[in-house]
Amino acid sequence: MQTIVLTGAAGLVGSVLRAPLRRAAKRLILVDRAPLTAEAPNEDVRQADLTSAETVAPIIEGADAVVHLAGIPDEAPLPSLLEANVLGAHHVLEAGRRTGVPRVVLASSNRLTGCYPVTTTVSPEMPPRPDGLYGVSKVAVEALGRLYADKFGLRVVCLRIGSLEAEPTEPRHLATWLSPRDCAGFVLAALTHPDVRFAAAYAVSANTRAFWELTDDLGYRPLDDAESHGIAGGESFFAEGTPQGGGYADPVYTLLRGGLAASA
Ligand SMILES: NC(=O)c1ccc[n+]([C@@H]2O[C@H](COP(=O)([O-])OP(=O)(O)OC[C@H]3O[C@@H](n4cnc5c(N)ncnc54)[C@H](O)[C@@H]3O)[C@@H](O)[C@H]2O)c1
Repeated sequence: MQTIVLTGAAGLVGSVLRAPLRRAAKRLILVDRAPLTAEAPNEDVRQADLTSAETVAPIIEGADAVVHLAGIPDEAPLPSLLEANVLGAHHVLEAGRRTGVPRVVLASSNRLTGCYPVTTTVSPEMPPRPDGLYGVSKVAVEALGRLYADKFGLRVVCLRIGSLEAEPTEPRHLATWLSPRDCAGFVLAALTHPDVRFAAAYAVSANTRAFWELTDDLGYRPLDDAESHGIAGGESFFAEGTPQGGGYADPVYTLLRGGLAASA
């Protein structure tokens, strides 16, 4: 590819994707409101707050694809999530439509289905069951992606990212871990697959206890498995009735972080 734009490049996922995307493109434009420094001759850094399509358009114009990661990655008050995640994705899709960027990869999340029990294998076709307000915001992000694919012809891939960690560290990760190399593999597949108009797919490693169905839509088969990292305590997490979101699905998590009152 000639040019890829990576938003939210200073964050956790962006830092993992930086080197592989740099190798995949002649030019990599890294965008974040936090300061960044170019680390290679083909990197171009832009400090910008992606608050409107007008701000985004001149940054992404002429790119082959945008990987949009910028946003709030966890539970927060709904107004903040709507602005950062939903309107943020809209600004990128709308700027992409206006400037003719053919492909957008959107960071979605496994938390969009975190209220399914651990005993259910969830496929991307099943209805959302968000485990909080953050998951709700990702439902809207995916709907926007679908709209821009169906109505305006953009190629859009929504990756429902699992738990990106260097190594799995807790029982839930036995199902949800996404290794750095599998993260890069999914994103590169989303950027290059020739036949995709719209896809929503889980991006998760090949974990023995995964509870999400991997689709062949993107043609990437993950390589790593959390099972081989000696995580103890899996039995209680995988007990009947536990929500896939684990502690994230606890009402208190949303009451506290979502800024909701505990009672009337
Ligand atoms: N980390 C994970 O395991 C995980 C799992 C599921 C989904 N995701 C999704 O992946 C994306 C990246 O997550 P992360 O963990 O790297 O988060 P992060 O908070 O580490 O990084 C997000 C980056 O976006 C930037 N940003 C936020 N709002 C911005 C704006 N308006 N303009 C410009 N830059 C802005 C921040 O400065 C930050 O550097 C998010 O959309 C998140 O919901 C992450």
